[in-house]
Amino acid sequence: MPLVDERELLLPALKERRAVGAFNANNMEMIQAFVWAAEEMTEELGKPVDLIIQLSPGASKYAGWALGAGMVKIVAQETNIRIALNLDHATKLEEIEKALENNFTAVLFDGSSLPLEENIELTRKVVEMCHPRGVPVEAELGKIPKIEDYFSKDEIAHLRSLPAKEAVKIIRERAGKSVEELMAKPEDVEMFVEKTGCDFLAAAFGSIHGIWDDIWPVRVDRLVEIQKRTPLPLVSHGSSGILMTPKDVEEKGIELMEGEGTLLDAIQTGGVTKVNVATILSVSFIQGFIDAYNANPSEKDFRNLGKVARDRVKEKVKEYMRLFAGAIS
Ligand code: G3H
Ligand code: ZN
Repeated sequence: MPLVDERELLLPALKERRAVGAFNANNMEMIQAFVWAAEEMTEELGKPVDLIIQLSPGASKYAGWALGAGMVKIVAQETNIRIALNLDHATKLEEIEKALENNFTAVLFDGSSLPLEENIELTRKVVEMCHPRGVPVEAELGKIPKIEDYFSKDEIAHLRSLPAKEAVKIIRERAGKSVEELMAKPEDVEMFVEKTGCDFLAAAFGSIHGIWDDIWPVRVDRLVEIQKRTPLPLVSHGSSGILMTPKDVEEKGIELMEGEGTLLDAIQTGGVTKVNVATILSVSFIQGFIDAYNANPSEKDFRNLGKVARDRVKEKVKEYMRLFAGAIS
């Protein structure tokens, strides 16, 4: 079927207290993995599983805008899964224009690096560009930092080698206070939503972009305060790093501080309806490719490695889809 408007996926999900996965694609294999995962989960759960495929401006330039969006449109045509195509983290109006030219069915304008007033002004402009074309707009309030803001590449490599509990302790010491200060302020929410006219709100609630595995707790208490002030679907960013369930917290030995919780809590009690996942899928693809190559270093056929990588991504996506549908706790 044709691509669908992202509102058609998120508004029913909000009512039902479930989430829709928004997965970032970087190549054809990832797009296939997402759609196949949704098809298999629809079968497994016995109810339709919706899908948001995201391309960042970087990924759109990597593939070429027309080819990147074109691949998503073609897979959508060939499946019964309802798919929305979102431009992720646009920071320039030209990028929004490109998304509209290429029939994206949602955009995120990320003005979080700007002072609040400028963020509001530019987001409003994006809404004025998109709404007449029937395209909804996600906006960002507060700032979701990235792990590279706090650690060098070598330090990140070291953190990745540590047990989750130790890595979390080090990240808390170095980044915890700053991440907290960057969270969205509940008192800004109503005014921001009203002035911008946005459709979905990515309000920072303590997550960090770019963590390689699900180890990091988020501030569900802040999310609850934010949710009280807007009826819009809320969006979780930096979700690769967020602990998925209370069971994971226990298994990984992470100590939760006051107000902290998991992705499951964020969905069930915090009103999170769209969950953006990128890094963990990129890591799964790379690791799948490396493992397949190491298992057969004389392999010359790219496809035999690509298939393994694609399958790893598909399995990871299915894990998230089970969680978002409320099928794991
Ligand atoms: O917008 C994309 C997401 O926020 C992805 O974050 O790479 O940490 O999963 P992540
Ligand atoms: Zn993000």
